[in-house]
Amino acid sequence: MGTEEKTEVLAPENASDLAASKESLTVTDNRTGRSYELPIEDDTVKAMDLRQIKVHESDFGMMAFDPAFTNTASCRSSITFIDGEAGILEHRGIPIEQLCEHSTYLEVAYLLVFGELPTRPQLESWVHDVTHHTFVHEDIKKFLTGFRYDAHPMGMLLASTGALSTFYPDANKLEDPVERYLATIRMIAKIPTLAAFSYRHNMGLPYSYPDNNLSYSENFLSMMFKMTEQNYEPDPRLTRALDVLFILHADHEQNCSTSAVRGVGSSDVDPYSAVAAGIAALYGRLHGGANEAVLTMLRHIESVDNVPDYLQKVKDREEKLMGFGHRVYKNYDPRARIIKGHADEVFEATEYNPLVEIATELEKRALDDEFFTSRKLYPNVDFYSGIIYEAMKIPPDMFTVIFAIPRTSGWIAQWLEMTDDPDKKISRPRQIYTGPREADYVPIAERTGGDTISGPPATRPGA
Ligand code: SDX
Repeated sequence: MGTEEKTEVLAPENASDLAASKESLTVTDNRTGRSYELPIEDDTVKAMDLRQIKVHESDFGMMAFDPAFTNTASCRSSITFIDGEAGILEHRGIPIEQLCEHSTYLEVAYLLVFGELPTRPQLESWVHDVTHHTFVHEDIKKFLTGFRYDAHPMGMLLASTGALSTFYPDANKLEDPVERYLATIRMIAKIPTLAAFSYRHNMGLPYSYPDNNLSYSENFLSMMFKMTEQNYEPDPRLTRALDVLFILHADHEQNCSTSAVRGVGSSDVDPYSAVAAGIAALYGRLHGGANEAVLTMLRHIESVDNVPDYLQKVKDREEKLMGFGHRVYKNYDPRARIIKGHADEVFEATEYNPLVEIATELEKRALDDEFFTSRKLYPNVDFYSGIIYEAMKIPPDMFTVIFAIPRTSGWIAQWLEMTDDPDKKISRPRQIYTGPREADYVPIAERTGGDTISGPPATRPGA
C-alpha cells in the first residue's frame, strides 16, 4: 500500500510515553496503516480525539456513531450513581433504600441541588422557602381555562411550565445566584400547584389553593382532593407513601428527559423552558408515560387467566410488556422493589386493587421465562407505581404528571450542574449524511412524482 507506519501523537510530546503509561488506546487505521494514541480518561476516550484519523488531509476526520447515545457519556455528574447490572441507585452516594427509609422528598431535593444533606436550620429554611412559593400568578388560571375539559394534564403541565418563563423574565440571568436560587425554589414549589390545577380543570372543579400548614406531599393531596372541608386531612399512610414515591422519582442520571433539559438548557435559555423540555420528553410512553401505559395494559389483560396469552403476544412482538425493561438496569430496578413494598401500606388505607393480582402474575411468569430473562427485562419503576396511584384515587392520565413533580428537583439539580460545568457548550451533535448531493432544482412542469402524496412524510435515512 506504500503507506508509512506513522504514529500520530495526541497529548504528551511522545506517543510512546502515552502508550507506556497504558492510559491510552492504540488505534490503527488499516486504510492508511497509521496508528494513533487515544488518551483514556475515566475509562472513556474523547470522541474529538477521533477527528485526526483521516485518509486524506482534507477529510473531515473520523466521528463516533451512537444513535440514542447508548454508549456515550454526555457529561460528568456527581448527582446520581446507577449500577445497572447490580441494581444500585445512589444520590450523592447515599443508597436510595436509606433515603426512602430515613428522609423526606424535600430533604432529598436539597441533597440533589446542594450536594449534601442539610443541617436542621438549612432544612427549615429550605422548606420555608419552598412552602412560601407554591402560589402561581393568577393569570395562569386564565391560561389553563383555554384547554379543553378533557385535555391531557401532561399537555397542560408542559404548557404552563413553559409559560412560567414569561412571568419571571429575569430567570435567564443564569450567572445571578439569587435568580438561580429563586428559579430552583419556584420550580420545585410550583410544579405540584400546576399539576393539581390541571387535574381540577379536568374535573371541572374550582382550584384548591396551596395550604402552607401542610407538608409538601400533604399539600399536593390537598390541592388535588380538597372539597368543602375547612382543612384537608390526608391519611398519613398515603402521605408517607406519596413522599417515598416522590423520593424514588427525583433523579435518575442522564435519562431521556434529563438529557432534554441539559440539551435545551445548553442554549442558555431560562430554566423554566428547559424543564418544559424535560416534561415533553417524560410525556412519551417509553419514558414517564409508561406508568399510565401499565394500567392500560393490566386492564386490557383483564384477568390472571389471560396472562399467559398476553406474554405470548409480547414474545411475538405484538405487544410490549410496559413497566418492564430499562436502558440501564439489567437487573431488578431497586425503585420497583421499594414501591412494591409500599403497596400493602397503601392498600391498608384504601380498597384493594385487583389489578395487583394481574401485575404479580405477569412479573412471576416473566421472571421465569427465558425470553425476558435472556434480555434482562425486569420490572422498572413504572410497573407498580400506577397501581398505587390508582388506589389513591389518582386517575391514570395524572400518573406521568405525578412522575414529573419530583423529577423537577432532579432536572433543576442537573441544570444547575450543567450551567457550572467547565465543559459546557451548546449541544449540537453531528450526523452521517445519507441524502443526495449537488442535485439541480426541477421546474414543476418537469416533475414526474405522480398526482397524489404517497407514503409517510418522513422516510428512514437513506431509504
Ligand atoms: C423510565 O432512562 C431512565 O432512567 C428512565 C427512567 C427514569 O427514572 O428516568 O428509569 C424512567 O423511563 C423507565 C422505563 C419505562 N418504560 C417502559 O416500561 C416501556 C417498556 N420498556 C421498553 O420500551 C424498553 O425496555 C425501554 C425503552 C425502557 C428500554 O429500551 P432499550 O434500552 O432501547 O432496550 P431495547 O429496546 O434495545 O430492548 C432490548 C431487547 C429488544 O429485544 P430484541 O429486539 O433485541 O429481540 O428487549 C426487548 C426489545 O424488543 N424489550 C422488550 C421490552 N423492553 C425491551 N420486549 C418486550 N417488552 C418490553 N418492555
